[in-house]
Amino acid sequence: MGLRALREAIVSYLGPARGVRGTADQVMIVSGSQQALDICTRALLKPASQLWMEEPGYRFARQVFLLNNCRIVPVPVDGNGLDVAAGMDRCRTAQAVLVTPSHQYPLGFTMSASRRLELLDWAERSRAWILEDDYDSEYRYENMPISSLQGLDPNGRVIYLGTFSKVLFPSLRLGYIVIPHELVPRFQAVRVAMDISPPTFPQAVLADFIGEDHFSRHIRRMRSLYCERRDALLHHLSPLFGSRLKITGQQAGMHLCVFLNRIDDLEVARRAASSKLWLVPLSSSYAGKGIRQGFILGYGSTSVEQMAGAVRKLQVAIDA
Ligand SMILES: Cc1ncc(COP(=O)(O)O)c(C=O)c1O
Repeated sequence: MGLRALREAIVSYLGPARGVRGTADQVMIVSGSQQALDICTRALLKPASQLWMEEPGYRFARQVFLLNNCRIVPVPVDGNGLDVAAGMDRCRTAQAVLVTPSHQYPLGFTMSASRRLELLDWAERSRAWILEDDYDSEYRYENMPISSLQGLDPNGRVIYLGTFSKVLFPSLRLGYIVIPHELVPRFQAVRVAMDISPPTFPQAVLADFIGEDHFSRHIRRMRSLYCERRDALLHHLSPLFGSRLKITGQQAGMHLCVFLNRIDDLEVARRAASSKLWLVPLSSSYAGKGIRQGFILGYGSTSVEQMAGAVRKLQVAIDA
């Protein structure tokens, strides 16, 4: 399951910060959300199991489900998050759902309280599993963080996935799963078959980093830094694109989403890459019909000073 000291540090952090309930015995350390999704799929689903995914949604998660021969049912997202009623219309008997309730990936909406209750109710009635990917909940700029779905769940249907990729850095390859108590042996059996356990040394360093209070200081410092970077991006985007531009998801996280009509976002991303501007095309997040064009603009690693130049490159790539 991972190093005890780190699992305890994670539980002490998650309770107050995210409203997640559970003990260190329920926490499994993994190499990021990607491995967490793979373990969840192997432990809970069979080949040909049907699973709801947000549409648009996290493309790397889709690859895990397809690799495990699951059938993905794309379910639309609106300003309140995943449209649960639409999911039930499309496939009431799905065995699982992957959701990003605190900052929907990629559109950035926060799932409303009523949708959360609707989703928990559907999961309980259908005996379905909810995989809650809480990948960047730490950074909210306008209002207080919203508690996790897991903390609202009285029935043990939610498997909570956390990662240090956003809050620290992705090459660390450390994340965790909070597993409902009675599922722990199933998850352990899968884990042993896959890689036995995570490497101990980086876990020990991280446990000290959290235990000695560097982690919470880091979050506080980065929240104000990312907020400045987000403001700089918004500041430079609006005069260039004006009313052509619709933006979502700027209230939290480390990216925002821009919709642009009449462009081919894949082609623009290719052009931008030649000037070393790395864009994620929005269209790549759609699995089904109704694809929209635009970009998922990450600002976490672009300084305020670099922002004007980066936005200029974006404009040149669009106008070329
Ligand atoms: C929706 C979502 N989930 C999870 C992650 C983190 O993935 P990992 O922990 O595998 O690095 C990301 C990173 O971009 C993400 O966008």
